[in-house]
Amino acid sequence: MTDYKCKPSDVGKTLLEIFCTEGIRRPEAPCGGKGRCGKCLVRCTGALSAPDENEIKLLGGREGFRLACLARCEGDFSYELPEERDTEIQTEFGADVTRDTENKKRLLAVDIGTTTVALYIIEDGEITDKISFVNPQGSHGADVISRLVFAGEGGAEELKKELWDAIAPYAEDTEYCVICGNTAIEHFVTGEDASGIAKLPFKPASLFGKEYEMPFAGKAYIAPCVAAYVGGDITCGSVACDMDRVGELTLYIDIGTNGEIVLADAERALCCAAAAGPAFEGANIECGCMARTGAIEKVWYDEGLKYKTIDNAPAIGICGSGLIDCAAALLTSGELDETGYLNEDRYYLGEVYISQKDIRSLQTAKAAIAAGVKTLCHEFKKPVDAIKKVIIAGGFGMHIDPDSACDIGLIPGELRGRIEFLGNCAGLGAVNCALSENERKRIETFAQKLEYIELSGHKKFNQLYIEEMFFEE
Ligand code: FES
Repeated sequence: MTDYKCKPSDVGKTLLEIFCTEGIRRPEAPCGGKGRCGKCLVRCTGALSAPDENEIKLLGGREGFRLACLARCEGDFSYELPEERDTEIQTEFGADVTRDTENKKRLLAVDIGTTTVALYIIEDGEITDKISFVNPQGSHGADVISRLVFAGEGGAEELKKELWDAIAPYAEDTEYCVICGNTAIEHFVTGEDASGIAKLPFKPASLFGKEYEMPFAGKAYIAPCVAAYVGGDITCGSVACDMDRVGELTLYIDIGTNGEIVLADAERALCCAAAAGPAFEGANIECGCMARTGAIEKVWYDEGLKYKTIDNAPAIGICGSGLIDCAAALLTSGELDETGYLNEDRYYLGEVYISQKDIRSLQTAKAAIAAGVKTLCHEFKKPVDAIKKVIIAGGFGMHIDPDSACDIGLIPGELRGRIEFLGNCAGLGAVNCALSENERKRIETFAQKLEYIELSGHKKFNQLYIEEMFFEE
């Protein structure tokens, strides 16, 4: 345990606030410190406020622990933070880096995801280093909405500084930098006003596709966005997978808290963002966690539920791919019915469990994505079966078992056998963009071509969303 000597200004502050101001490593705070998720557990003793009813419920009888966002400082205390574990961050690409290289300088390409950051150092036209880390903004919430709220409450400067401080150590001597991220993240890193993204009519202050002066890297090109919830990570990623050059109908999905979806053929390109919620990142799952050492990543049924954890370490929780597998296994074994009803309240995988509430969160997440795909097909006036190839992008995608994804209806069953995983496509797009002006132009042209379909209030989407809540192919 580490002792903390309370200062007069600390009294009344939460442990999370104190950790933030003192620069102490913070525990995960997926709900952004709102006292809802119960995940910011810290072992502690000392002069702290008594837990209220909500905290007692969230603690679930864990002796010696408090929730960092609810326990308030009343005097000196001692604390022990949960062990830091390696988070799996996908920095690999499933497609080639552009050979159209005209730039020989030291370059930096940065893909800032909501959860993780991937950074590529390029020298003489070659990637010489790949660095990845957890997005430091995670303590303001696992999802972008919590961070938009935080920005609106005066936290915008802090959000910008956190990203600048995280990138700067790798940017020394960099002559040019490309940054891509979702639209909100691109506002945070540039300091643009993000307030328009969070409220109707969801109008961002900027759609980027231009250069900014950055203190850490001279000029930084910020990738072009299409709309408030289809950002530069999607334009970069989809062009890196040649979505702007496809002949047959091709689907591109980046699965995360938002499922961003692009559907294109040689003539048209449509896109949308389906709000899946943080279930796939484990945030609103009772034993959920990110894909890190000890996370259950695979589950199957063989006379009972069997599982495998990342690095074969003792199980600490279940990540998104494990959750999808688990639901598929429970469906196959008949423990889960098509309405999402579980025969028992909890199913255990060692000490980790999956509950009825978790299945409900998964249902809403997978329904949003599947309905998003079908809505784009509807707008395209093509049946789902006309899609010839499905590209799943993003680190999380690499872990998903394609059959489990089809079994639970996250990906429509008609597309079984047509799925390809291409890793960190957004990172690849940022690298290409740094290396070649032609690639930048390609991305800008595709961003212009993409027709954005707004799903909120979309009649067909709403109807499909309800249908897709069921576990049925
Ligand atoms: S309950 Fe503390 S961060 Fe969610």
